[in-house]
Amino acid sequence: MALTGAGISVESGIPAFRGAQGMWEKYDPMEYATIGAFLKDPERVWAMLSEMVDVFSRAVPNPAHTCLADMEKMGVLRSVITQNVDGLHQAAGSRKVIEFHGNVEELVCLACFRRYPSRERIREGIPPKCECGKILKPNLVLFGEQIPWATQEEAEAEAKSCAALLVIGTSANVTPACDIPLISRRKGAVIIEINPEETFLTRTITDLHIKESASPAVSRLLEEIRDIPPPS
Ligand code: OAD
Repeated sequence: MALTGAGISVESGIPAFRGAQGMWEKYDPMEYATIGAFLKDPERVWAMLSEMVDVFSRAVPNPAHTCLADMEKMGVLRSVITQNVDGLHQAAGSRKVIEFHGNVEELVCLACFRRYPSRERIREGIPPKCECGKILKPNLVLFGEQIPWATQEEAEAEAKSCAALLVIGTSANVTPACDIPLISRRKGAVIIEINPEETFLTRTITDLHIKESASPAVSRLLEEIRDIPPPS
């Protein structure tokens, strides 16, 4: 199984959140990425969201995404749990993708609960509005919101039953996503981390740290396992 974070999409031109050129350098997450901030001033939060949606619309999957999709087709990768909301795993051909933090494909009205495809509403202007007049929120998880129960359950079941977990491009700073490797490790899975930097996982539970960018590392991994027969 794989758990991915913003780092896997950096080579697709999408900035990560933390670090030098990260989104949170430009936008304070407390002002732009909490449910409280959205309820207080949705127009302001849409300044960040529209930039995000625009970057996503130009991004294409990189070799790390496509190699994971190939591993799934080969029968050696069961699923991807991603914290990303950019849709690049699906665009690369991955079929079993658990979007832990939701996505930006759909917009929801927090007043009347109507849902809309994002493209349709965003075309009409930013911030996109519901027919009832309220500003719509993308169907992603902001700080202060719960992970949907079904998503949490599905992710936990996957985490508990994998033999090996690839942790790719996440700083493992955000709960409950960063608990997933701990759950897998407790059940005996081998933890393989792919990240040019160290994280708290590297120092605690990671068995193998491939200290590299996602694309070259995942591509090489695929080459190494290509000739090994899939598990029966
Ligand atoms: P972060 O921005 O916190 O971490 C990105 C990680 O990717 C860092 O550890 C980098 O070292 C690593 N990285 C950078 N470039 C890389 C590359 N080319 N290949 C591999 N790794 C690379 O992103 P996340 O851990 O995904 O949540 O952040 C988790 C959550 O925090 C996000 O889903 C978002 C954010 O706030 C919400 O908005 C709810």
